[in-house]
This record gives sequence, structure tokens and C-alpha cells, in this order.
Amino acid sequence: MTTARPTAVIILAAGEGTRMKSATPKVLHRIGGRSLLGHALVAARGSHAESVVVVVRHDRDRVAAHATEVDEAAVIADQDEIKGTGRAAECGLMVLPEGLSGTVLITSGDTPLLTAETITALFTAHDTSASAVTVLTARVPDPTGYGRILRADDDSVLGIVEHKDATDDQREITEINSGIWAFDVDVLRTALGSVGTDNSQGEKYLTDVLAIASDGGHRVGAHLIDDLWQTEGVNDRVQLAALGRELNRRNNEKWMREGVTIVDPATTWIDADVTLGRDATILPNTQLLGATSVGAGARIGPDTTLTDTEVGEGAEVKRTEANLAQIGAQATVGPFSYLRPGTVLGTKGKIGGFVETKNAKIGDGAKVPHLTYAGDATIGDGANIGAGTIFANYDGVNKHHTTIGKHSFIGSDTVLIAPVDVADGAYVAAGSALTGDVEPGQIAVARGRQKNVDGWVARARAGSQTAAAAQAAADAGTRHTEKNPEPTTESQEKKA
Ligand code: UD1
Ligand code: CA
Repeated sequence: MTTARPTAVIILAAGEGTRMKSATPKVLHRIGGRSLLGHALVAARGSHAESVVVVVRHDRDRVAAHATEVDEAAVIADQDEIKGTGRAAECGLMVLPEGLSGTVLITSGDTPLLTAETITALFTAHDTSASAVTVLTARVPDPTGYGRILRADDDSVLGIVEHKDATDDQREITEINSGIWAFDVDVLRTALGSVGTDNSQGEKYLTDVLAIASDGGHRVGAHLIDDLWQTEGVNDRVQLAALGRELNRRNNEKWMREGVTIVDPATTWIDADVTLGRDATILPNTQLLGATSVGAGARIGPDTTLTDTEVGEGAEVKRTEANLAQIGAQATVGPFSYLRPGTVLGTKGKIGGFVETKNAKIGDGAKVPHLTYAGDATIGDGANIGAGTIFANYDGVNKHHTTIGKHSFIGSDTVLIAPVDVADGAYVAAGSALTGDVEPGQIAVARGRQKNVDGWVARARAGSQTAAAAQAAADAGTRHTEKNPEPTTESQEKKA
């Protein structure tokens, strides 16, 4: 009867979760970047069971689709109109091959902190004690709502009574049924055949199997764990938040032990699938979400949200929102930058304050330092984009691409009206509205020429303080230096 690994894990996920008061089924609510069911599936798979089954009913198609999206090998079992955890387990067994033997583990889709290690420990305790039924239990300060473990004077487990069916004395018991079980598959199948629905909820209780097996002379046991969080289920949104915070606390602690500095774990939220390199530093109020990865020695935050974003080694990302972006090694981003999907910043590149980028490939050492929108752009290595540059990529109907060559220089306050192509080693003068391509070595000046009108203030603003200041300057003979050769005055124009 001893097997090296569990035959199957059956995850019960057919319930609606009415106390969530939600259009979304309970098991699809998320903490730590995964649905509750997603956490259950990852833990189940981590036990190396031969099969993982998910029992569904409420919002069946949505839950089933999500389950196979998280774990494509998961087997879906449909529960019929007969209610209760016992019926759910029975329906789960029905999708497994007939002559199956060994150990079946049963878990809940709403118990997200349960780990693969605990499932494996339960399996091992069950297997080595040659039990037919082993229930995972915990002693909790407030057992309200849980099934209570009934033990004999010699501590052997006799049965489980649901809170709703318990006497006042039984309600004093603080050892609870976690809803996580190991069963000999034959004993479970046979016992479920004789479980009725004679209880306060009119449901087929899985908990009844324990007493039936015990009465049938089978060995039943309990595996008590100290870590209460792992046995806690989500029933409402208050528990969802509490378990989410605890999950995050555990995950942060894991990363700190791996060599990551987290300055303020309480305000740092890191999803389950995020990876972090050694000596990375995470500053307060930072969220690292989805499949984000952070390279060794990088510094992230404060006040930063990165979703599905890759950050290279030694990069620095401050007060930034980024989604599906790649930030190169030693690059700097922020403060107040918005990186949208398709942003790729090269090694030692820079995206500075009040810059928004989208589908923009920015080369090694290239700089987009201030107040810019760069959409649908390729910016060559070492190029410099002046303050206030706009890549006008959208003509109201279509999006167009702009290319800026290597080591080219775009003057401040330029509009690049796409499609436009600035070659390597070219300049665009500040204030240009560029509509045509620029060849290597050229400077493009695309703006009105400055024209100064003599005597305008005296005529148009007579009597103003400005006019008085102009008159005083003229009387004193004050003139500005001729450091800027470009402006022409009306008198010069007349002479010409
Ligand atoms: C159950 C246990 C209780 C235990 C508690 C731990 C029974 C009868 N009671 O109670 O002893 O202390 O879990 O959290 O087993 N489900 C189905 N189909 C159903 C009913 C439930 O798949 O017909 C699933 C739910 O989606 C959920 C899990 O089984 O994932 C537990 O169901 P729930 O209704 O929350 O059971 P509890 O009343 O909490
Ligand atoms: Ca429950």
C-alpha cells in the first residue's frame, strides 16, 4: 500500500462563496498575484501527485477555464446537484481511473497559504502510519464555524462534528478540521457510499467518512500543525485581505533571506511569481507584480509599481509605473516616469521625470531625460532627446513609427511628426516641428524664424510699467549683447 507519491490531489472548488458578495466566484479572487485556486493548484502540483483534479460547479466554465490556464494538466470534475464536501470528493474520484489504489489528498480551493511542503508532510505522516484516513488539524483561538475534532481519552481520533451540528460542550473544542485530508482511495470510495445527508445543512459531509472508517476498523489519525495560517480558508473579503497580507509578509521574508533588502516590508507588495536578484534594494511603497524580475543590485522605489517588467542588474527605478517594459542594466528611470508596454531601455540608458514611453526601443546610453512622450519609437545608442520632445505617433487614424539614429540630438520642445527618420549623427534644432527625414551630419531647423519689432511696447502698451522700463533702458543706453546672432529687426530687414 505504500506509494512514493500521492496518487491524486483533489481540490474542492465547487462552492459559490456567498459571503464574498461578488460576481466573481470565490476561488477566482486573487492575493499575491494568483487566484486562491491558483495557489491551491501550485501547492497540489508541488506534492508531485500523479493527478491533480479540480471539482467545479458554481460558475463552472469560468472556474474550469481558469484552472486549466493555471495548470493545463489539471483534470476537471463536475459536481452534480447533490451538495456537500463529501459529494464533491465523490465527484472528484469519478474522473480518476477505476482500479486506482494509493493515497488521495483532498484540499480546498479557498485555502491559499497551504504549501506543498505541508501537503507532503501530511502525505508522509499518513503513509508511514499506514492510516486509512488522516486529517490535517490545528488548534485555533476561535474555532467558530469549523468542524471540531472528537478524540477519545487515549487521544485517538473518533470523528468530526460540524459547528452547526455540535453540542455546547463540543463547541468548546479548539482543535479544528482544516478541510485538508489524506485518504486511502478504496476506503474513501467505500465510505462515501454510505454517507447520508442527515445533518443541519442536508449535505453529504466529507467529515462523516472519518467515523465510518474508524467504525469499520480502519486506522484514522490527525496530523496537527502549528502554522494556523496554512489551514485558514477565505470566506469573506476581510479574510481575503488578512491572508493576502500574511502571504506577502511570508514572501517578503523569503526574499530578505535570499539577500534582498526590503526597507519597509509592510508597504512592499511582491507577487508570488516575481524574482529578485541578490543585493537588490526595494524602497517603501513599492509593488512588484506579475512576472516582474529584478536583477542583482538594482534599486527599486520608493512609490513604484512594476507589472510584468524586467529590470537589469544595477538599474535604478524611482517613483515609476511600468507595465510590460524592459529596463537595461545600470539604466536609470524616474522619478515620475510612465513606461507602457513595449518599452525597452538599453544598458545605461535613462528615462527621466515626466516621461511617458510606449512601444519605444531606447538604445544603450540613450537619454530621454525630461517631459517627453515617446510612442512607437526607435532611439539609437547614445542619442539625446531634449526636454519636452513629443513623438507625435498618431494621426487620428493610424500609428506611425519614428527612428532617431545613434548619437543624434533632438533639441528641446520638438515635435517629431511620424513617420520621420533622423539618421545617425544628426541634429534637430530646438522647437522644431519635424515632418521630413534628416540625413547624417545635418541639422534640421523646422520652425519660424525670430523677428523683433522695434517700438512695439511703446505703441501697443503705452503707459504700462513695461513701457516705462523700456524707455528707461533706452535712456540709459542699455543694450543686450549680441550673443544670439539669429534675430533680425525690422530696420535690418528694411536695409536688406
Ligand atoms: C468544511 C468542513 C469543516 C472544516 C472547514 C475548514 C465539511 C462538511 N466541513 O466546512 O469541517 O472545518 O471546511 O475550512 O467538510 N465545496 C464543494 N462542493 C460543495 C461544498 C463545498 O466543492 O458542495 C468546496 C468549497 O468550494 C470549498 C470547500 O469545499 O472550497 C469547503 O467548503 P465550505 O462550504 O467552505 O465548507 P465549510 O463549511 O467551511
Ligand atoms: Ca470554508
